[in-house]
Amino acid sequence: MNNEKNIVLTGFMGTGKTAVGEILAKRLQREFVDMDALIEEREQRSISRIFAEDGEQYFRAIERQLVRELANKQNMVIGTGGGAVLNPDNIRDFNRSGILICLNARPETILTRVQSQKHRPLLEDGEKAECIRSILEERKSVYASVPHQVDTDTLSRKEVTELILQIAGREN
Ligand code: S3P
Repeated sequence: MNNEKNIVLTGFMGTGKTAVGEILAKRLQREFVDMDALIEEREQRSISRIFAEDGEQYFRAIERQLVRELANKQNMVIGTGGGAVLNPDNIRDFNRSGILICLNARPETILTRVQSQKHRPLLEDGEKAECIRSILEERKSVYASVPHQVDTDTLSRKEVTELILQIAGREN
């Protein structure tokens, strides 16, 4: 296993980036960085409040800054926010500094996972199922452009972790 490259988990909201990232980091004895959690900590407010008070563009700018910072580090497991890969510069930086893996799930699976949660501003602007379907459709080609893909629909978190370990092993 390459000990230096970051393993970067991306994908739509509710695909398991944080849950799997935590397990993976423990398995590899690496630090786990959840980008959204780190942004919230530094900004001293929730992602929802950042969107409401300063807008999505402001959030994307601090997200971009954080990608630049993390791309200069090594040996970490990173969970991105679901929209981080919308900026091609972020994809480029992550690909340069690590193994970028996209977690996928069907809209119905995502809906079940995020149904009772309230911390995702992009899913609060209408009916959740419709928001998920339309944003996923819009972003389909961006997610598909990520070099490694893992479908999580029928897998447990541990099984997803195993698949990621295999991908990371092959990337040596
Ligand atoms: C977003 C996903 C969220 C968070 C923000 C925007 C997106 O992260 O970064 O609400 O554009 O898909 P999660 O994927 O961790 O929910």
